[in-house]
Amino acid sequence: MASQVLVAANRGPLSYALAADGTLSARRGGGGLVSGLSAALAAQPEALWICAALSDADREAVRRGVSEPGVRILDIDPAVYDDAYNGIANSVLWFTHHHLYDVPREPVFDAAFRRRWESYAAYNQAFAEALAEEAAEGASVLVQDYHLALVPGALRELRPDLRIAHFTHTPWASREFLDMLPDDIRSRLVWGMLGADLVGFHTWAWAHTFMAGAHLDDERGIAEPKSPAGVDPAEARYVHKNPNSPVRHKRTNVGVFALGVDGDDLRALAHRPEVDDKLAALRAEVGDRKTIVRVDRTELSKNILRGLLAYRELLTAHPEWRGRVMHLASAYPSRQDLKVYRDYTASVRDLATEINAEFGTEDWQPVLLSVEDDFARSLAAYRMADVALINPVRDGMNLVAKEIPVVSEEGCALVLSTGAGAYEELRGDALTVNPYDVSATAAALHEALSMPPEERTARTKRLAAAATTLPPAAWFTAQLEALRG
Ligand code: G6P
Repeated sequence: MASQVLVAANRGPLSYALAADGTLSARRGGGGLVSGLSAALAAQPEALWICAALSDADREAVRRGVSEPGVRILDIDPAVYDDAYNGIANSVLWFTHHHLYDVPREPVFDAAFRRRWESYAAYNQAFAEALAEEAAEGASVLVQDYHLALVPGALRELRPDLRIAHFTHTPWASREFLDMLPDDIRSRLVWGMLGADLVGFHTWAWAHTFMAGAHLDDERGIAEPKSPAGVDPAEARYVHKNPNSPVRHKRTNVGVFALGVDGDDLRALAHRPEVDDKLAALRAEVGDRKTIVRVDRTELSKNILRGLLAYRELLTAHPEWRGRVMHLASAYPSRQDLKVYRDYTASVRDLATEINAEFGTEDWQPVLLSVEDDFARSLAAYRMADVALINPVRDGMNLVAKEIPVVSEEGCALVLSTGAGAYEELRGDALTVNPYDVSATAAALHEALSMPPEERTARTKRLAAAATTLPPAAWFTAQLEALRG
């Protein structure tokens, strides 16, 4: 049966693992996109989620017909997929949007890049064709993220009747970084995005960089959001006279939908017996010391190394904290097919080991680093957080910044980077830092650890309220309404 609501994302709700005896097991993928969309789609039982097979185990699941209801996994040729996902989406577009290039050496746009780009286009085309096949007349299609930037344009050509939205979970590159891309590639990206009726971002900052880079003509001047959550796409309507606009399509609305968390769901998850067990184990290690908690994928943009350097500087500048604080850092593996990510993960481990060797004593380990994907342990760490450290160099939203204040038992002080999308909503009650300034981050950690309990509680209450303004289900329906309205 054709679907009325469709979502397209590279990653599906579950990914599979194949054991030596041939059994398949499934687990939830990491990252904000999956947690937000999974929660949102729980309230949309009729919706269809189209995603890619990410591994041989996923491909095996497709072959055996094992998948969740409401999910269609596309079995794309592994070589094409590898070029599209690792070669372009994660090595070029992610780096461009997060400003991660080491400019004396990268990027290099050569013949090999062109071949990978063809794979990226083919992979986007496969999504567009699957969506065209599954969508009912006039259906709403919500395309997710930089992996699928060409899908709205391609789908518009196949099915002009559909309502198409694109949502970007990352930042959008500033003009200088976008302009590094070869001209024809940049135009193609903009062409893809402007195939959508609605283009959504987490913050006004990213929406504005998009509009500047896409050369959108604004008929009414830059519209500012009415509320900090800014869920009023009608406030920002952009008619584009851009020559890149796909034929037949004359208008794209740009909206801001700041994804938040569902407080009740999250607290329920954080109080499962499995999490209680992890909490008991962590408490036994931490004792009555204070905790600084961070939870990230081992992701270059998360700035884990400078976070550790700041912690080291805290222990040097404020020796009174030695033996009285522990840094619980969860940095679970991500994108390990890319050498730069493997190297980064190794550097994180090395630096944590160095800090432990420098300051550790027989009964005190300064950093407890976990490089496993252990969601229950992360939730346990959230519950016992005195300080949350969120210091990305650039981040679309960063849901962890919203989750920790909601779950922390004693209230936590939030040290928050100006580069996180969450900064737009949470800055009033966070201790905000320039992510490159290690000394300022160390000073903020000291201030956070020293914050009087009443102030900490009051700030945490307001942070939790801001964090839950637009929970996933409402975030999703706001986009559907904007698309249909
Ligand atoms: C970010 C991206 C998501 C992605 C997630 C995890 O949140 O915006 O699209 O799914 O990272 O990355 P991965 O490469 O493992 O899907």
